[in-house]
Amino acid sequence: MADFDLVIRNCTVVTAADTMQCDVGIKDGVVATLGRSLAAGTREIDATGKLVMPGAIDSHCHIEQKSGAGVICADDFYSGTVSAVFGGTTTVIPFAAQHRGQSLRQVVADYHAAARPKAVIDYAFHLIITDPSEQVLGQELPALLKDGYTSFKVYMTYDAMRLDDGQMLDILALARREGALVMVHAENHDMIKWLTSRLMEKGLGNPRYHAVAHARVAEGEATNRAIALSELLDVPILIVHVSAGEAIDVIRDAQTKGLKIYGETCPQYLFLTADDIGMGLEGTKFCCSPPPRDAAAQEAVWRGLANGTFQVFSSDHAPYRYDETGKLLKGAQTTFKDTANGVPGIELRVPLLFSEGVGSGRIDLNRFVALTSTNHAKLYGLYPRKGTIAIGSDADIAIWDPAREVTVTHSILHDNVGYTPYEGRHIKGWPVTVLSRGRVVVEDGKLNAERGSGNFLPCDLSEAAKPLQRPTPELAFAASVGHPLV
Ligand code: URP
Ligand code: ZN
Ligand code: ZN
Repeated sequence: MADFDLVIRNCTVVTAADTMQCDVGIKDGVVATLGRSLAAGTREIDATGKLVMPGAIDSHCHIEQKSGAGVICADDFYSGTVSAVFGGTTTVIPFAAQHRGQSLRQVVADYHAAARPKAVIDYAFHLIITDPSEQVLGQELPALLKDGYTSFKVYMTYDAMRLDDGQMLDILALARREGALVMVHAENHDMIKWLTSRLMEKGLGNPRYHAVAHARVAEGEATNRAIALSELLDVPILIVHVSAGEAIDVIRDAQTKGLKIYGETCPQYLFLTADDIGMGLEGTKFCCSPPPRDAAAQEAVWRGLANGTFQVFSSDHAPYRYDETGKLLKGAQTTFKDTANGVPGIELRVPLLFSEGVGSGRIDLNRFVALTSTNHAKLYGLYPRKGTIAIGSDADIAIWDPAREVTVTHSILHDNVGYTPYEGRHIKGWPVTVLSRGRVVVEDGKLNAERGSGNFLPCDLSEAAKPLQRPTPELAFAASVGHPLV
C-alpha cells in the first residue's frame, strides 16, 4: 500500500512565511509531510514549473444572502462555492445576516440549511447584526460565539441595517468581553443621506452619482469614528472594504499609534474607478459601497497592500444580476438609490491580485499568500487548520501556473451573475489544480466535487481579537475605583 494518498512532487511551495522546494505528501485529507524524494502516493501530481500555495480564503463574500428589499442573490451555495474554487479559493466565510426583529439563532439555522446540501468547499459564517436587542446581546451572541461564530459585521450606514454609535459600543463591549472580532462597514450615514437627497432633488439619479453620494470624506469620517469607538473600549476592529485614501490614512495612523485596527480591501478598489460607472444604466453593474474612486485612491490601496496597512484582500462578492432581481430593481427607472449594491468577484479576486500585484512586483509571493489566505485564517480563528501548507493542516492547496494567460470574459466564469466588471482584462497566472482536504476538486478546467461535500468550520476565538489591555484613562479611572465599565 502506498504511503500517501497523494504526493505532489517537485513543488515550489509558497506560504506566508517561506518559499521552499520539496514534495508534499497528503494522507487522510491533511498534509502528512513535506520533504524531498517522498515515498510513493496512490496518486501523484508533478508540479514542476508551478507554484504550490495554500488554497485561498475569501472572508468577505455574500452568498445566498437574504435581502429585506426584495433583491435576489444570483449565487447560491453551489454556484458561489464552485466559482470560488475555480479561482483558487478553498474556504469561504459568507454572512448569516440578521434582519431587524429576527432571532440570530434562527438566522444561523436558515443559512446552514441553505449551505449544507450545496457547498463544494469548506465554509464558516460571520454574523451580521442589525438588531442588538437585549436578547441578542445577552443570550444569543454569547451562545453563538461558543458554537464557532466568532466574528460579526456591523453597518454604520443603510437605513435598514445601521447601528448608532451607542449600539456600536454595546457590540464592541460584548466583543471585548467574549473575544469576538467586529467587522465594520464604515460610511457616514447622514452625509450619504444628505448628498443623496440633494442629488435626487436635482434629478441626478443616474448610477454615476452613486460615487458622489458615497463621498470619500464620508468613508474617512466613519472610519475615524469607528476607530475612536474601538479605542475607547480597547477592542480590536476590522474595517472592511476600504476604498478611500482618507480611510487608509486613518487606519495607518491608528496602527502607528499601536491600536489593533485591521484593514480589508477588495479587487474593485484596485481595478475600477468611479469613471467605470459611466452615465448609463449599465453603470449599476459597478455600483458598490464604498464605491471605486480614482487613480490616486487605487495607488493608495496598492500602497496599503504593500506596506501592511491591509491584512486581508477579500472579494466582497455581491452577486446581483443585471435585471429586475438585482441591479435593475426598478427597471429602466432604476436610480443609484434603488440599485442592488455590490459587484461580483469571487472567482477573479486571487488571479487579479496575482497578475497585477505579484506580476508587476508590487507585492511578493509570500505577502500574496498572506493577503489572500493566511491572514484570513489567523483573523477568524481557522489557523493553522486552514491558510497554510504545514504538517497537520488541511490539504487545501492551489497549484498555480504562473505563465498561464487568460483574457477575462464572463463565459469562462462559474458564477450566476451574467457579467463581470473585469470583462476583457488580461490576467497572467492561474490556479490550474485545486485541492480541498486532499480531494482534487478542480483539474483540467473541470470540477470534481459533489454538492454538499464542503464542511462547516466552527471558528475559534482569534488572537487578533484580543484587546491590548490598554484602557483609555477614563475607563482606567472607573475601573481603579471599583466600577469597571466593560
Ligand atoms: O456594495 C457592497 N459592498 N455590497 C455588499 C454589501 C456590503 O456592504 O458589503
Ligand atoms: Zn459592507
Ligand atoms: Zn460585503
